[in-house]
Amino acid sequence: MGKSPVLLSGSAHPEFAQQIAEHLDTNLINATTGTFPDGETQIEIHDNVRKKDVFLIQPFAKPQDHHIMEAAFMVDALRRASAADITMVIPYFGYSRQDRKERPRVPISAKVVTDIFADKVDRIVSVDLHSHQQQGFSNLPHDHLYAANSIYKYLSGSIEDPVIVAPDTGAAKRVKGLAKKWDAPWAIIDKDRLGAKKTEVATIVGESVKNRNAILLDDIASTGGSLLEAAKALHQKGAKSIIAATVHPVLCSGAPKRINKSNILDMLFVTDTLPKHWKSDKIETITIVPLVAEAIHRINRGKSLGPLFK
Ligand code: R5P
Repeated sequence: MGKSPVLLSGSAHPEFAQQIAEHLDTNLINATTGTFPDGETQIEIHDNVRKKDVFLIQPFAKPQDHHIMEAAFMVDALRRASAADITMVIPYFGYSRQDRKERPRVPISAKVVTDIFADKVDRIVSVDLHSHQQQGFSNLPHDHLYAANSIYKYLSGSIEDPVIVAPDTGAAKRVKGLAKKWDAPWAIIDKDRLGAKKTEVATIVGESVKNRNAILLDDIASTGGSLLEAAKALHQKGAKSIIAATVHPVLCSGAPKRINKSNILDMLFVTDTLPKHWKSDKIETITIVPLVAEAIHRINRGKSLGPLFK
């Protein structure tokens, strides 16, 4: 490592990759990502990558399986073209919620996906995995970035008397970290899930949310069910206003519509780890391009990533 980074994008989120290239004052290299007439994925990299340090940028966005396989084919093309070092940059790691065997006879799909890349790339860069332990699913170096600093920088000047709230116990660590940075109190909603599309809120643990401006913090907004249920509970407990910030805007199954219609949740802030596919004045994007670009720069130069976590 140490030569200029060579950036390459899959088809999942080329705008994000392009912005990273601009941030690093370089260009994406040329590649074709398409489909053969029979539906098979077609890849061709048009620029020389021999002995180059390549960063392939591809969130595992919907359709997840296609984007995962496309990335795998691109990695194969890079290896066979004698790239010196390949970093897989995965801003959104699809399947990351399937990270343990929760019931009998179910797969650990996040491990299956990691295995596809495990002995083919030199390192993985990811952002806010559903569980930190996923870094250990392979023996590769894995740089796990957090969007919390970008969210804090964007919101901290404009919200008084905040209370940072986890919509479920899984988000507790993330919430406590942000509350410490903000010097604000925190609370956790103890949620019981009833099914894939239905959630039920139980109790609020921690500081009182009464007359405070609540900020719900989570890794993923998928159906939006968790956030809307949590917002309802905060409203019942007397929160003055309620906004939410989630890293990955999966926003499926009519989530943007439901968020628009809610008269309890004032705003949802998301990052650009996934392409924007909704229309809503209530959903605003905070960019993490500078974070990912800086990580790429530091990896390429052999510098510590430590400052990115402060
Ligand atoms: C669950 O543990 C995650 O952190 C998110 O809270 C959840 O995946 C969000 O899903 P939904 O928006 O469908 O409630």
